[in-house]
Amino acid sequence: MSMTRITVTSERGPYPVLIGSGSLATLPPLLDRHGFDKQRLVVSSAPIWRLHGGRARGLLARGDRPALMAVGERAKTLATVAGLYDACVKRTLDRAAAVVAIGGGVVGDVAGFTAASYLRGIGLVQVPTTLLSQVDSAIGGKVGVNLPAGKNLVGAFYSPSLVLCDTDVLSTLPRREFRAGLYEVVKYGVISSPKLFTRVATGLEAIFAHDPAMLQSIVAECCRIKARVVMSDERESGPRRVLNFGHTIGHALEAITGYRRFRHGEAVGYGMLAAAWLSTRRGALAEADLARLSDLIEAMGPLPRVTDLRAADALDVIARDKKVVSGRLHFVLAGGIGSTVIVSDVTTRELVLAMQAIGMQA
Ligand SMILES: NC(=O)c1ccc[n+]([C@@H]2O[C@H](COP(=O)([O-])OP(=O)(O)OC[C@H]3O[C@@H](n4cnc5c(N)ncnc54)[C@H](O)[C@@H]3O)[C@@H](O)[C@H]2O)c1
Ligand SMILES: [Zn+2]
Repeated sequence: MSMTRITVTSERGPYPVLIGSGSLATLPPLLDRHGFDKQRLVVSSAPIWRLHGGRARGLLARGDRPALMAVGERAKTLATVAGLYDACVKRTLDRAAAVVAIGGGVVGDVAGFTAASYLRGIGLVQVPTTLLSQVDSAIGGKVGVNLPAGKNLVGAFYSPSLVLCDTDVLSTLPRREFRAGLYEVVKYGVISSPKLFTRVATGLEAIFAHDPAMLQSIVAECCRIKARVVMSDERESGPRRVLNFGHTIGHALEAITGYRRFRHGEAVGYGMLAAAWLSTRRGALAEADLARLSDLIEAMGPLPRVTDLRAADALDVIARDKKVVSGRLHFVLAGGIGSTVIVSDVTTRELVLAMQAIGMQA
């Protein structure tokens, strides 16, 4: 099967996103061709390297080893970055060197921030290994870490030189992680592509069976959409907001459950349902389209419960979010399957009703 190639332009220059089954094996020669033939720091984590490092071993210089960081959101810290700086120093990396991040969004964000800041910026190659990171975090140049005070509070816009998505590696993802990424795929369908939405809705069986052609086509379509959006708004001043469809209430759900109950994508699943409900109430989205979305989300499998959660608690989080964007809540509504409407006059009452519509308490 041939690889799909998408070119993203950025302040740091254009970079290719390559998507294909088995593409990881082509990475070492590809890096040579991109001029990263000398010094590299391969960053991953132990479970991912154990599963897929074999295919990437050609990336390591003789005697070198990957820098393996701890797993999970709790590893997304400045302390982990400091450990990676040490690994850079130990290898005497210079500015022509590259960090090669092989992992999910956590590895990509941490390794990306390391590359953005070490020597004021060295090369960065993203090899995302979760569905979420392939369709979302590896593209667009946002990198960073969490502080005890909150998520993603330190970071940079720093585009990679190359992104390589090998859809084969997704076959080892726990089903729940895979499904969590799929909610983001559905999001791209709703905001931008009726064709993608239908492909997912009619292709769930092939998707969950990890059919290579199916995965390549949906990952590529999401990358195309994300690339188009970030190219129009690299520093997130406006148009990039459409990517937040389902995320206002989704983030609030994650926060009020201490980031323990939901995978991010699952919370976005609920957030999309609430936003779509509100879109229908405001006449922006047809009842039939709301039903298509809720049928699809239901068909994707069970979500953690929300019936014990209070909309009032979620509102506190949303109000805090709002302060960050200078007082106005920009809320993304669906204007159909494949289009959005951004409004800034959503009332507290509407938010509460939308959250009740997905089963939360007032
Ligand atoms: N930079 C951005 O624009 C952006 C966008 C969205 C999300 N993010 C960030 O991404 C992070 C979430 O990313 P994620 O969902 O990929 O989570 P993750 O990186 O924590 O990976 C999820 C789990 O899957 C495991 N895993 C990864 N690849 C695997 C594979 N192929 N087989 C088996 N197991 C595998 C990981 O070890 C981990 O346990 C968050 O920190 C979020 O803030 C960043
Ligand atoms: Zn998201």
